[in-house]
Amino acid sequence: MIVIMNQKLLLSVSLTCLFLIIFFINFKQAFSDPQTQLINNGCSQYNVTDMSDFNTNINATFADLRAQLDAGKLFATAQQPRGSSPIYAMIQCRSYLSPADCVACYAAAESLIRNCSASNGARVVYLGCSLRYESSLFYDQSTQEGRFGFCGNRTALQVTAFSAAVKELVQNLQVTTPKISGFFVASKEELVGGGGGNNTAVYGVAQCVETISESGCRDCLATAYDSIQRCFGNAFGWAVDVGCFLRYSDTPFFADNQTTNLAPFLKIGK
Ligand SMILES: *[C@@H]1O[C@H](CO)[C@@H](O)[C@H](O)[C@H]1NC(C)=O
Ligand SMILES: *[C@@H]1O[C@H](CO)[C@@H](O)[C@H](O)[C@H]1NC(C)=O
Ligand SMILES: *[C@@H]1O[C@H](CO)[C@@H](O)[C@H](O)[C@H]1NC(C)=O
Ligand SMILES: *[C@@H]1O[C@H](CO)[C@@H](O)[C@H](O)[C@H]1NC(C)=O
Ligand SMILES: *[C@@H]1O[C@H](CO)[C@@H](O)[C@H](O)[C@H]1NC(C)=O
Ligand SMILES: *[C@@H]1O[C@H](CO)[C@@H](O)[C@H](O)[C@H]1NC(C)=O
Repeated sequence: MIVIMNQKLLLSVSLTCLFLIIFFINFKQAFSDPQTQLINNGCSQYNVTDMSDFNTNINATFADLRAQLDAGKLFATAQQPRGSSPIYAMIQCRSYLSPADCVACYAAAESLIRNCSASNGARVVYLGCSLRYESSLFYDQSTQEGRFGFCGNRTALQVTAFSAAVKELVQNLQVTTPKISGFFVASKEELVGGGGGNNTAVYGVAQCVETISESGCRDCLATAYDSIQRCFGNAFGWAVDVGCFLRYSDTPFFADNQTTNLAPFLKIGK
């Protein structure tokens, strides 16, 4: 009898453990995603003059970026300004990524950007992170030629309520992000009228690179707004400029507890 009880207990303990393990694996999968969907990349048409110097410099620069991310940072710059082929580089992960996902996004971006071989400058933008290097200092740039917006290939359900909510959300992101330390905002806007049971909310983030000024961030997000406003009836969209990133979607892409309380920043001079 005691033996049987113990077996039952053992079985139930084992099943509980198994359940917890499966739950934990699924949980990790659901919340671990480096978001390496490519949205833009390009290599400068100008080549470096000294490949050997360039290779030494770019390797040292990338190793420096990688070490900073390994230490838990989500934004880093690194440079090798001396020699005939100076290198300046910047990595920025969206602030809702975990440090491990940021490292994974960076690793994918580094491997892709190395395909620009001899180019003296290059960019890779994923949904999860942006990597750029140049032969001269660019950390203070906020807007430039080549900015663009992308509209998702799906029309939103309840399109009128949805596009009104996107407009409100994106305007709030544009106004508040430059005022907030770290230049990152994640927010969620409920659809007025509840959306009839399908879309009930829209999710969005805005981010500026940490090395530009507050007014640079404002200028960049104004261009991003211009690039994305034709998309508001689409289920998702994003806009990119050298100093900022803006994205919205009808599907959550960050955790609920990562949203920013915007109320204090909306009151002052909207
Ligand atoms: C740059 O270098 C690449 C690879 O070595 C070569 O294919 C390309 O033609 C070069 N471009 C220019 C403008 O010299
Ligand atoms: C730079 O790194 C690449 C990739 O890791 C490697 O193949 C290459 O030999 C390195 N070059 C120098 C000069 O360190
Ligand atoms: C880099 O280019 C090579 C050859 O063109 C290609 O086989 C490889 O898939 C490219 N790598 C990436 C990460 O795109
Ligand atoms: C939208 O694009 C994705 C990926 O390019 C594709 O898989 C999907 O079928 C497209 N959806 C529609 C509604 O066209
Ligand atoms: C929700 O969307 C599905 C298709 O995506 C549709 O069949 C259904 O009627 C919608 N429900 C409501 C309440 O709008
Ligand atoms: C959000 O919740 C997750 C899981 O519940 C937790 O691990 C994480 O630390 C929380 N993040 C923040 C910013 O509170």
